[in-house]
Amino acid sequence: MVIPGIRAAVITVSDKGFSGQREDKSGPALVEALKEHAVVGETLIVPDEQDQIQAALIRLADSGEVDVILTTGGTGMAPRDVTPEATLAVVERVVPGIPEAMRAESLRITPNALLSRAAAGIRKRTLIVNLPGSPKAAVECLQVFLPALPHAVETLR
Ligand code: MTE
Repeated sequence: MVIPGIRAAVITVSDKGFSGQREDKSGPALVEALKEHAVVGETLIVPDEQDQIQAALIRLADSGEVDVILTTGGTGMAPRDVTPEATLAVVERVVPGIPEAMRAESLRITPNALLSRAAAGIRKRTLIVNLPGSPKAAVECLQVFLPALPHAVETLR
């Protein structure tokens, strides 16, 4: 069932996706997984550059037109993985339960789940949630969070 009114945006964070060296499959996979749950407005790809990630998060959150921003990628331990840092720099309040639950559920699937440093938080009336980079991991983690999305949006408005 489409819950009317939930407005989502998807940011793919990937150097290779941004430069065109690799097709972005994670963004489209999230859009597909979201379609029963929210209306996805903007989707974009940014490189693993903290200032560019922050600029995209700030622009979307401060537009007042997006309830939830999902990022995919850049949550691991590679030197250029800075999505959690960018997220924590722009949110006003952190929501630790979301990544805690995603890691706990994902641990049933792979021990590598604990390598994700994903964060979540609120800027103004927008919830920002980091998801891992692979399409499979991103959708698995989204599924953990989706049941709580309607109530999250309800309380933010
Ligand atoms: N979570 C789920 N549900 N499924 C997965 O396959 N992969 C992990 C983890 N979380 C995975 C997962 C791996 S291998 C890594 S390195 C981290 O997410 C971070 O991924 P990222 O750097 O692409 O964001």
